[in-house]
Amino acid sequence: MKTQEVYILGIESSCDDTAASVLYNGNVLSNVIATQKIHKQYGGVVPELASRAHQQNIVPVVDQALKIAGINKSQLSAVAFTRGPGLMGALLVGTSFAKSLAYGLNIPLIDVNHMQAHILAHFINEDGFKKPEFPFLAMTISGGHTQIVKVEHYFNMTVIGETIDDAVGEAYDKSGKILGLGYPAGPKIDALAQLGNHKAFTFTKPKVKGLDFSFSGLKTAILYFIQKQVKENPNFITENLNDICASIQYTIIGILIDKLKQASNSTGIKHIAIGGGVSANSGIRKALKEGEQKFGWTTYVPKFEFTTDNAAMIAIVGYLKYIEKDFSTQDITASARLKI
Ligand code: KG4
Ligand code: ZN
Repeated sequence: MKTQEVYILGIESSCDDTAASVLYNGNVLSNVIATQKIHKQYGGVVPELASRAHQQNIVPVVDQALKIAGINKSQLSAVAFTRGPGLMGALLVGTSFAKSLAYGLNIPLIDVNHMQAHILAHFINEDGFKKPEFPFLAMTISGGHTQIVKVEHYFNMTVIGETIDDAVGEAYDKSGKILGLGYPAGPKIDALAQLGNHKAFTFTKPKVKGLDFSFSGLKTAILYFIQKQVKENPNFITENLNDICASIQYTIIGILIDKLKQASNSTGIKHIAIGGGVSANSGIRKALKEGEQKFGWTTYVPKFEFTTDNAAMIAIVGYLKYIEKDFSTQDITASARLKI
């Protein structure tokens, strides 16, 4: 039998990154991302500005992805796109574009769940990165999501825990805002935390039952603590910035690891994968490595470019669905609150 040659174009436009990627049989040929800088000045993503920027970016980004991959669009086997969850106006740009392109080329259209894609990014062929063994637990941690998912097979996943309010990345970004660190603050808090003493200040961890998370109380506790201290000493933040960041990071990572331990104990699953922007965090990476020693875990952290929002993760889901001939029809619509 002739081996199949599958070229998948993946398109991602759920939030503030317009991205396109071409995969050949699960190998990344290109992974292009236009990150929208406009939101920085507003301290967070402005939905209307995001959809406008997606409209401007989508054609050049797809064009570049094809050029870097060195293929012509007529060679594509299918077009995969993010159907949701995400910002409606943003999703609509990618969805409409993908539908017209697949229709024009007369090739299959494949809808992708963004949250599944963060998890299945682990199945991109990449030297030096092992693929998780089924069943495994996946913790997706980013500015928009915080979930623990039990993954029994590619498309057999169950959410067993999730945030009841803010996502963990929001906890980083909002704490950073209080400290005047700009947006997104996660990477800055992470860098400063490494210079500070994590025992300097104590923040109470929220008590949430089961495997769910809550981060909004922590943010308020940090706000009140800082306001009180600044009243007594106007230079409190600048004098203690590293220690404050280290203490915040220690608390947040503690919350994540506690729930992972609980999830691993209750399911008996010791293979643990992470994904999403916060998986770039040095604290979570270190804690997972320690988990290998302490709890006998096997842990999986994807290559950095596949952790934050990207289109290679959309294309790998496209590839897995292509093999199963799991295609969409042209009447598919974007879904802002799509569930796993
Ligand atoms: O996955 P992502 O690029 O976008 C979505 O939110 O979907 O994640 C962005 C989030 C932001 O909240 C950012 O502050 C956080 O990931 N982040 C980090 C780090 N790098 C990015 N948080 C903590 N430590 C980091 N090193
Ligand atoms: Zn995401």
